[in-house]
Amino acid sequence: MGSSAKATKPERPRPSRDGSPPRADLIGGSTAMERARSLVARFADLDAPVLIDGETGTGKEVVARMLHAGSHRAAEPFVAVNCGALSDTLIESELFGHVKGAFTGASADHPGLFVSAGKGTIFLDEIVSMSPRLQASLLRALETGEVRPVGGTRSRRISARVVAATNRPLAAEVKRGAFRSDLFFRLERLVIDLPPLRDRAEDISALVDHFLRGDFAESGAVASAALLDDLRHRPWPGNVRELRNVIERMVLLSGSQAVLLPESPAANDATADPSPIMHTPNASAPSGAAGYPSRLDFLRAAFRERRRLTRGDAIRLLHCAPETAARALAQLETEKFVRRVSTSAHHRTSHFEIVAS
Ligand SMILES: Nc1ncnc2c1ncn2[C@@H]1O[C@H](COP(=O)(O)OP(=O)(O)OP(=O)(O)O)[C@@H](O)[C@H]1O
Ligand SMILES: [Mg+2]
Repeated sequence: MGSSAKATKPERPRPSRDGSPPRADLIGGSTAMERARSLVARFADLDAPVLIDGETGTGKEVVARMLHAGSHRAAEPFVAVNCGALSDTLIESELFGHVKGAFTGASADHPGLFVSAGKGTIFLDEIVSMSPRLQASLLRALETGEVRPVGGTRSRRISARVVAATNRPLAAEVKRGAFRSDLFFRLERLVIDLPPLRDRAEDISALVDHFLRGDFAESGAVASAALLDDLRHRPWPGNVRELRNVIERMVLLSGSQAVLLPESPAANDATADPSPIMHTPNASAPSGAAGYPSRLDFLRAAFRERRRLTRGDAIRLLHCAPETAARALAQLETEKFVRRVSTSAHHRTSHFEIVAS
């Protein structure tokens, strides 16, 4: 084990062209977003830990970065650690450091991210995945302002501010005994709740506008009122991330200057699921039933370009559930548009290759 196993690298805010740090904003005029923005402003410059609570894709990382950017720590590192991504022992040595010889492979002292975050912010994502032992170490760090590296005897002072995020309500985790109540009480003093997008449908048009004018401005695409109305009635299990992905896919599929419309139901599309697709006045764009490009059209275009895709590629390209990608690939296989060239126990690594051209 070495520094290559880092959860994430310490990161300084990247200066934008005018030299100022990049601005990340919480878009949306709902009461919930206004409240979140005002809490961010109030909490940013405090030193106590903040807990950000919200389903996946609701903007927890956006908020964590805003807290950092709005604080006197803004010029110091922002270090993000996904506590669910690494094993318990790895996270422990990543966070708290280790001394040379603490375990096989510990060939040098490692300060740990708490220390290398300096006076910046350490963002502990998916905190609910921490084991009881790590929770105890974190509690100790918060209480004493010190960490002790694995295998070490001396503690080191830490000055980084802790921001934690959870996509499962911590109170419930405490109730079922999966999260320490004393750590919870330390974290819940400053809480920012980000409600799911389905509960703040009034934010959708501002978000769509934000994506179309910002990230995808070059396309010149605009959203029709019908599309916005359609989007407001979706459940959005992936929240704002999913909305962004849907808009991105529509923009990618559309010709320039397209007016994005809701998808018309494509009866013969095996992948038809409630996901909107755009209408494009551009005749050269791929078209499916009723002139609306479907997921299958998109996938066919991707195969023409790349020749070979794995199921994982399809999931990523379509921004869809694995079952939806599997259905789409099965349909293209039935059509003899693609054939399966390897079957793997791990379904994401099965390859599909274009047959037709
Ligand atoms: N209110 C918002 N305004 C603008 N962009 C947003 C907002 N909320 C989320 N986003 C965008 O949605 C995407 C997902 O946000 P983010 O990564 O912060 O979610 P998250 O809550 O950390 O999700 P996860 O639990 O899956 O890690 C990002 O592209 C982010 O910029
Ligand atoms: Mg996140």
